[in-house]
Amino acid sequence: MSLEKQVTDQYSKRIQTEKLYSGGYYVTKVTEELESSIFELLNKEFSDFKDLKFLEVGAGNGTNANMFLKFGFQLPNIYFNELLPERIKAIERNFPASKLFSGNAIEIDFDTKFDVVFQSTVFTSILKPEDRKLLADKMMNLLNPGGIILWYDFIYNNPRNKDVRKVDLNEIKELFPASSGVAYKKITLAPPIGRRVGRFYQLFNIPVLRSHILAVIRK
Ligand SMILES: C[S@@+](CC[C@H](N)C(=O)[O-])C[C@H]1O[C@@H](n2cnc3c(N)ncnc32)[C@H](O)[C@@H]1O
Repeated sequence: MSLEKQVTDQYSKRIQTEKLYSGGYYVTKVTEELESSIFELLNKEFSDFKDLKFLEVGAGNGTNANMFLKFGFQLPNIYFNELLPERIKAIERNFPASKLFSGNAIEIDFDTKFDVVFQSTVFTSILKPEDRKLLADKMMNLLNPGGIILWYDFIYNNPRNKDVRKVDLNEIKELFPASSGVAYKKITLAPPIGRRVGRFYQLFNIPVLRSHILAVIRK
């Protein structure tokens, strides 16, 4: 099965369930933690964000771009990619006149290179190892010298959802053998715990209970 068909089938099943999981205190805490952790990592890599060229692969509705705009990235330097038609339309609505590659990220053909290529929960949607490898190579090739891949994805399988599959730290390192260095931290209190503990998010948010890795993968 092609990667395009695999992703399209998988997300057509998810439309109903995604509504159940949107919003709420847990999502607010996860988002705050993700934003502050990304900001901290980016500040270690770059002194100024305004001239950095940024690309998000598998950008969904494109709303992650708002976080980078808040940090000081400039809209003309922000590029998007997405595969699913309804999400492509949402990006076009949210960011008219933005630069967008519609289709499989493995085939991106922008005639420019980037300082930051971001992926957030895209690799876990890609099930075949060979597709993961092709996308990893593509992302590396899209980087300027000194550029980074910014990575946020989960490291444990969900037995109730066979449409996604974890990417653990060993696999991240195997996907990017030519990287000059990988820096990472575990973040995000795992959803089954985080949703139960409500207002006690911070108290339970210890490394062993976290489900995602935020990583910087240097060219
Ligand atoms: C879980 S969603 C995350 C969306 C967004 N990155 C976020 O953090 O909100 C994964 C997204 O990756 C997209 N995707 C998966 N494989 C892709 C591929 N090969 N090329 C482009 N987009 C892809 C899906 O269509 C989906 O919108």
